[in-house]
Amino acid sequence: MAPGADFVHSVFSRIAARYVAVNHILSFGMDILWRLRAVELVADWKPSSLLDVATGTGDLALDIQRELPEVEVLGVDFCEPMLEIARRRGVRRTICADAMHLPLPSSCFDTLTIAFGLRNLPDYTAALQEFRRVLRPGGHLLILDFGIPDGIVSMPYRFYLHYVLPRFANLLTSSQPAYSYLGESIERFPRYETMCNLLTGVGYSDAVCLPLLGGIAVIYFARA
Ligand SMILES: C[S@@+](CC[C@H](N)C(=O)[O-])C[C@H]1O[C@@H](n2cnc3c(N)ncnc32)[C@H](O)[C@@H]1O
Repeated sequence: MAPGADFVHSVFSRIAARYVAVNHILSFGMDILWRLRAVELVADWKPSSLLDVATGTGDLALDIQRELPEVEVLGVDFCEPMLEIARRRGVRRTICADAMHLPLPSSCFDTLTIAFGLRNLPDYTAALQEFRRVLRPGGHLLILDFGIPDGIVSMPYRFYLHYVLPRFANLLTSSQPAYSYLGESIERFPRYETMCNLLTGVGYSDAVCLPLLGGIAVIYFARA
């Protein structure tokens, strides 16, 4: 069962100060490349307004601001300690709000991005509906999140995810539950066709899935 929003909020409040560094260490820097791939896709859509949901410490929002300076970026997150770091790092516009109930009018963004965030939300279908509400018709949604690679690598990967990573993360953050939760949430998260069907089911069209590094991460994109 998915943990409640209070648990997720407390996890990110606790690890906020070390989140950026620990992310890069535990993913061997791959998260940086994955976000840059997401920015390349966004660039092709030529948005003028973009909402980055679950912006956290602002990694994706900052990449978009830097690579696409003409785009008006708004970052939203419900965890103030994460947002505070995002602002300090240079994210220009932020709001502290729940992704499930965005305090924003309908049809007001060309593109909505969410990196390593959807997995943490309590109801994927309701969240995707809420994202579609704030996107203008025909606007683009991009989801970047973790997956589980198929085939022979899945076993060693799961060993890393469930046994090595939480212990190593505990040394870096003194917060093993946060990183045990990471593995559980990745196992629960819908993948490939299942995610594309979910997107189509809530009214998105042209859903595409793009596995990265054999499926350790996946980008999904679709039109509202
Ligand atoms: C793993 S971090 C991802 C941060 C950033 N997007 C990145 O690429 O590094 C997940 C973020 O989702 C936020 N989050 C989780 N549930 C949320 C919710 N219901 N509403 C808004 N933000 C939420 C957390 O506070 C956290 O900052």
